[in-house]
Amino acid sequence: MQRKHFLATAAALALAAAAPAALAQAPGKLKVGFMLPATGTFAALGTAIDNGFRLYVTEQGGKIAGREVEFVRVDDESDPAKATDNVNKLIKRDNVDVIIGSVHSGVAMAMAKAAKESGTLLIVPNAGAAAVTGPMCAQNIFRSSFSNWQPGYAMGEVAAKKGHKRMVTITWKYAAGDEAVLGFKEGFEKNGGKVIKELNLPFPGVEFQALLTEIAALKPDAVFTFFAGGGAVKFVKDYSAAGLKKSIPLYGSGFLTDGTLDAQGADADGLLTTLHYADGMKSKRDADFRLAYAKTYKLQPDVYAVQGYDAAQMLAIGLNATKGNAKDTKGFAEALRKAKIDSPRGAFTLSRSHNPVQDIYLRKVVGKENVLEGVASKALADPGLGCRM
Ligand code: PHB
Repeated sequence: MQRKHFLATAAALALAAAAPAALAQAPGKLKVGFMLPATGTFAALGTAIDNGFRLYVTEQGGKIAGREVEFVRVDDESDPAKATDNVNKLIKRDNVDVIIGSVHSGVAMAMAKAAKESGTLLIVPNAGAAAVTGPMCAQNIFRSSFSNWQPGYAMGEVAAKKGHKRMVTITWKYAAGDEAVLGFKEGFEKNGGKVIKELNLPFPGVEFQALLTEIAALKPDAVFTFFAGGGAVKFVKDYSAAGLKKSIPLYGSGFLTDGTLDAQGADADGLLTTLHYADGMKSKRDADFRLAYAKTYKLQPDVYAVQGYDAAQMLAIGLNATKGNAKDTKGFAEALRKAKIDSPRGAFTLSRSHNPVQDIYLRKVVGKENVLEGVASKALADPGLGCRM
């Protein structure tokens, strides 16, 4: 009896001694916190990002850097007023290893502040706010998408080259709209154009009639716009219904027609936009991605799905370098700064401030597709103003 007890105790002690080593090898599940819109004008964008991210994780057998991935999700409603509370749920209540979000620039700025303060890894899979990879930049903050300036600037150059001289802009009055217009203006005016009027309305408003009447009265050569999601669907339909599509060409950041063409129908036909993704990329990487996405979700992917997929790829690159340690933000950042990310959009690198340096494509709506017309701006980098790391 006594000998048996001794053996059992010895076995228990041996197990206890071995436990820390075993734990060090398997740090447990990797907790990924999605902070994305599930309701409101950007709801479909949140779903596409979520889908894209999960597709990459599934392709890796459900693991990143050897750790099984577990998801928690918060609906941020694209509401900046609720963003600090929402992100703190993920950081403090759920204790996530990494935050993925969000779509709306105002929400993303609150997230960047909380991530900077807590040191939690943040990968922004859409929101283009300049501040995130500008004044708020940090070792633990990354973006897999774009800055609002990038597609706007590229379109400014395109519109000027088309010979337009006097243009009007129209957008929602918040960071994304303001910055897209700023980028457009820079590209357009550098090349001889002039923005004669900047029109806007509060986010996420869709009362466009009075502004469309003003555009008709101003008779510009063309119009540049930033709208996305449900708001973009309504704007394109209203622009056409007002009879403007026939007389005043409409250009946009490509969000205007991405993930929206089923709902916009013929009203979007022929529209030219600039973005870091297009239909008909003709690369094997993109074809494989599209097939896998379509098989999994019975849907065609859009730019948001690509950004979600690439956020997961970036997470894997960073965590593979730190052997799964999400607290080693220095090692994580070093790996990503050297990386070439093998995106369906075409390979891209990250700037010093952690924003994609990428080709911006010119696309034309043909039926249900944003067909690739060519590269509008090669390896375009956001200026990253105000970033000090
Ligand atoms: C943004 O708020 O930064 C934003 C939202 C939707 C888009 C693009 C940018 O499609």
